[in-house]
Amino acid sequence: MAPDPTSLIELATAYWGSATLIAAVRLKVPTALSAAPRTAAEVAAAIGADPVATDALLAGLVALRLAVKVDAERFANAPSADAFLVEGRPGYLGPALLYNGDVYPLWARLDTVVRTGHVDSAPDAYLGDDAQRTRNFVYGMHHRALGVGRAVAACIDLAGRRRLADIGGGPGTYASLLTEKTPGLTAFVLDLPGVVAIAREIVASLGASDRVTCTPFDYYADALPGRFDAALISGVLHREQPDGVRAIFAKVAAATEPGAVLYISDVMLDDDRAGPLFATMFALNMRVLAHDGRCHSVAEQRAWLGEVGFEVTEVRRLPAPIHYTVIRAEKRT
Ligand SMILES: C[S@@+](CC[C@H](N)C(=O)[O-])C[C@H]1O[C@@H](n2cnc3c(N)ncnc32)[C@H](O)[C@@H]1O
Repeated sequence: MAPDPTSLIELATAYWGSATLIAAVRLKVPTALSAAPRTAAEVAAAIGADPVATDALLAGLVALRLAVKVDAERFANAPSADAFLVEGRPGYLGPALLYNGDVYPLWARLDTVVRTGHVDSAPDAYLGDDAQRTRNFVYGMHHRALGVGRAVAACIDLAGRRRLADIGGGPGTYASLLTEKTPGLTAFVLDLPGVVAIAREIVASLGASDRVTCTPFDYYADALPGRFDAALISGVLHREQPDGVRAIFAKVAAATEPGAVLYISDVMLDDDRAGPLFATMFALNMRVLAHDGRCHSVAEQRAWLGEVGFEVTEVRRLPAPIHYTVIRAEKRT
């Protein structure tokens, strides 16, 4: 059979759907539709937008199954939009999706990044330099961890441990969840100063300030602040090339005794580094965003951990929409 170009056309236009979703979230269309079905003109008035263009956006949302038409004129949210795209609902994923919207222009320059090897964005904009982007990013991580991340927390057993170093702990959500389920455990969220300021706010809102301390820390420059019998590195190593990962592992090794446990959770590649699809795309996402962005395989990390005395004792791959693999390693020497 002759090759068929259909999949190429679909791929070349796949971003249309992403852009439609992100525009709807930015404009708070699902929130405007949450109380009762509305016409395009009513939605446009509620969100302060052009009625004709709003009608086109709503048609796109219906075709994408994010909205439904309840009669000839009125639109309502589809169940997934109602659960996850309405501001104020417990499952609200807006900040996490808007983060993808912030990154989206960088993808348009992927060819340049590949040609030059350089990222011309300022990644630190998300990590403290730009207050609003940092807030979007940290709250995005928080909502993600509160929602899908509970499955990651469920893979982490810290029973009997006293001091957890959460390296690049971001919003502190995992540290809060893990100390909640582990009597006697205190956690230290170690992250850049601009992120830590927001983490303190989030940890307080979760009622965890007495068990979770948020400490400014730069894993390039600083040693871990004290001794630990447990460490977590979640969603951090995809910013680093192999030498960067090995340097972080060495810092954990220097601050722990034999018997200490280290959990790593992240998007990870297959050992041949050519799949799964989500991980290969995520690796590119990190490459347009951060100069050293890269995903790693379990085999690579097993070898790097071995160099500093840690042995991998368990590997769990979590399904979509989490896409994380959780490695448990124990310090032997
Ligand atoms: C994707 S977030 C993961 C947050 C959290 N661990 C989680 O899983 O929800 C990566 C975190 O690494 C932090 N980070 C990046 N560079 C860092 C550095 N040099 N030192 C410490 N933390 C850093 C970022 O600020 C961010 O909070």
